[in-house]
Amino acid sequence: MERIGVVGAGTMGSGITQVLAIKGFQVLLHDIDQEALLKGIGRIKKQLERSVEKEKISADEKDKALERIKGITVLDELDSVQLVIEAAAEDMEVKKSLFKKLQEICPEDVILATNTSSLSISQIARATDRQDKVVGMHFFNPVPVMKLVEIIKGEKTSRDTVKKVKVLSENMGKRPVEVKDSPGFVVNRLLIPMINEAAILYEQGVAGAEAIDKGMELGANHPIGPLALADLIGLDVCLAIMETLHQDLKDHKYRPAAILKDKVAKGELGRKSQQGFYNYG
Ligand code: CAA
Repeated sequence: MERIGVVGAGTMGSGITQVLAIKGFQVLLHDIDQEALLKGIGRIKKQLERSVEKEKISADEKDKALERIKGITVLDELDSVQLVIEAAAEDMEVKKSLFKKLQEICPEDVILATNTSSLSISQIARATDRQDKVVGMHFFNPVPVMKLVEIIKGEKTSRDTVKKVKVLSENMGKRPVEVKDSPGFVVNRLLIPMINEAAILYEQGVAGAEAIDKGMELGANHPIGPLALADLIGLDVCLAIMETLHQDLKDHKYRPAAILKDKVAKGELGRKSQQGFYNYG
């Protein structure tokens, strides 16, 4: 595979694009919103410039990586790619409508992967007539740093598709693990309820944000505490995952924390809006 399409130029889409480009893939990065697209490409440029400053890559490698990225706002231009990784909004209807369009645009041998963090791969696949070629490729934030990719096999995903996305993940320098199609898969089923519980502790005044985070950094050796991590992931993303776990697993223990709902309603989404559990202004 040489030519990959990435749909969605947000934090995850731009991170995935950055890694693909640095590893030598041609990438068509799509976003319907021109401003979001430019912001995503700007983020990649900044990260690569930082890597040059740290002498992790040369200026020439950075320039070549940037040349391999083409930003597009018209989905039809994805007709020439060999695989698409979708990293659009975490909403089942948005994803289904996107996959329906992608299967009309992309030749029938093209694999359609989704970076969904908790939604059902099988359900997304049913929007297409190539369910054997629909698969989950779940990356972690920050994508250039985190090694894991969860490979999620839907009901009808073929072994050949799984094999191909595992090889692609390895060629991106990542470590793929295969998991079943279950709400939140493995990592988010464990991680997001922990973040939710930290939000409840904060809400109940058991401890302040710094104390909760220091507790998990120093007491459980986590690189950052759960509330700082929530701000990094995005409180809207954390809430969407909790809602999926709650609805699909039908268990009260996954009830989203009220403070998470309040903050999202107020537009306090974490680092990306400069305000979450902490202020980044
Ligand atoms: N992009 C690229 N590189 C980044 C980065 C970014 N956004 N943020 C940090 N880095 C790099 C830094 O450049 C630095 O690299 P070097 O060591 O080579 O210089 C390295 O990461 C460490 O960064 P810092 O020293 O600035 O800060 P840190 O030591 O606190 O590390 C961190 C930052 C890597 C984010 C670390 O705190 C960490 O690992 N946190 C946990 C992250 C995590 O759990 N992610 C999973 C979230 S869940 C998810 O993503 C799934 C989902 O569906 C919601």
